[in-house]
Amino acid sequence: MKAIKVGLLGIGTVGSGTFNVLRRNQDVIRGRAGRGIEIAMVADLNTERAREIVGDAAVVVSDAREVIANPEIDIVVELIGGYGIAKALVLEAIAAGKHVVTANKALLAVHGTEIFAAAHAKGVIVAFEAAVAGGIPIIKALREGLTANRIEWIAGIINGTTNFILSEMRGKGLDFGVVLKEAQRLGYAEADPTFDIEGVDAAHKATIMSAIAFGIPVQFDKAHVEGITKLQAADIKYAEQLGYRIKLLGIARRRSDLPNGGIELRVHPTLIPTQRLIANVEGAMNAVVVQGDAVGTTLYYGKGAGSEPTASAVIADLVDITRLHTADPDHRVPHLAFQPDAMNDTPILAMDDVVTAFYLRLCVADQAGVLSSITTILAENDISIDAVLQRESAEGEKQTDLIILTHDTVEGRMNKALSQMQALPTVLAPIVKLRKEELA
Ligand code: HSE
Repeated sequence: MKAIKVGLLGIGTVGSGTFNVLRRNQDVIRGRAGRGIEIAMVADLNTERAREIVGDAAVVVSDAREVIANPEIDIVVELIGGYGIAKALVLEAIAAGKHVVTANKALLAVHGTEIFAAAHAKGVIVAFEAAVAGGIPIIKALREGLTANRIEWIAGIINGTTNFILSEMRGKGLDFGVVLKEAQRLGYAEADPTFDIEGVDAAHKATIMSAIAFGIPVQFDKAHVEGITKLQAADIKYAEQLGYRIKLLGIARRRSDLPNGGIELRVHPTLIPTQRLIANVEGAMNAVVVQGDAVGTTLYYGKGAGSEPTASAVIADLVDITRLHTADPDHRVPHLAFQPDAMNDTPILAMDDVVTAFYLRLCVADQAGVLSSITTILAENDISIDAVLQRESAEGEKQTDLIILTHDTVEGRMNKALSQMQALPTVLAPIVKLRKEELA
């Protein structure tokens, strides 16, 4: 059978990795897909660089629409990124009857509903394994491998840049700003790292996973997004003393305790017990824990970015599409795991309704009665304390740090208690609040 023909839109880091891996492993890939997969056309504004990568193996053009218009092309791979031109090109490729592979998490988290509906109407596939956690096959695991399960929660380190920064902050005891500069110098962080450090990239990925896990539409606008820019070295140190690591987690959790149900969708720095495997994921690596009612806890670990790890996911999608190319469209694996008429409208909860445990750091006057005034406020708000740590003050020092770990409570209740504590004259600085998850 003749090779399936692929058009690449964008041949940067991931595109060149895709080209190289497809060529290097063509025999095994053909053996698995049942036919060859050939990159026949590449569109990139930098045609000179594109030609250097592909040589004579593919036609190079500067206009992506030439690829979409070519009737020979069966699959369009979108590696441009962002919501702008990428969205228009993906929708045009779908309208032209092409299957689409994309690594674009921002596009799918924000416009996924429109894109999947267009693909469904046209009977084509939009595949996106590379959009979440790079080389880790987490989409495949959630959508197919765990299909027997009612997913209870997902918690993932799904942004390598921030995990690298947090690992360095912990390892070297440095503050965020210093480590960010070093990460940029080493090329781990982008020149404009806003989406990474503010938690937006992780929230895009968590949004996509929440839809697949719970059969809800992608709703990035409902996600709580908090990055690591305000995290201080002191809190990483105190967390360590109490047996916890701080990681930026993307969390999606189904709440069966609420009468109408609800989904928590949130990204924020989180204390995790040091003995959990995921707490020991260091550097730029990614990891996702998925809790299913039948399978229990499962963990997926690997490189979340990079040329060939991400290419590995792009090519897995190309192989999948090649296999499914001729299958009855109604019996393919649905884009978001659930058949379109089986999706549900369980709401994503407001942060005030989220249940989690907390880490609090209070800078307090070191005098009699301070601890009891604080614990009284917690008790009056029905918040139970898990542990308390007080930094030993130096000779003559009039203030100290008081660290409190709580048991699970509703975030709205904690916020009420926090504003009461903040109003005490003996609380001398803004209280640091971090969330804590046992992940067991
Ligand atoms: N910027 C992302 C990260 C990689 O740091 O993990 C691509 O998703």
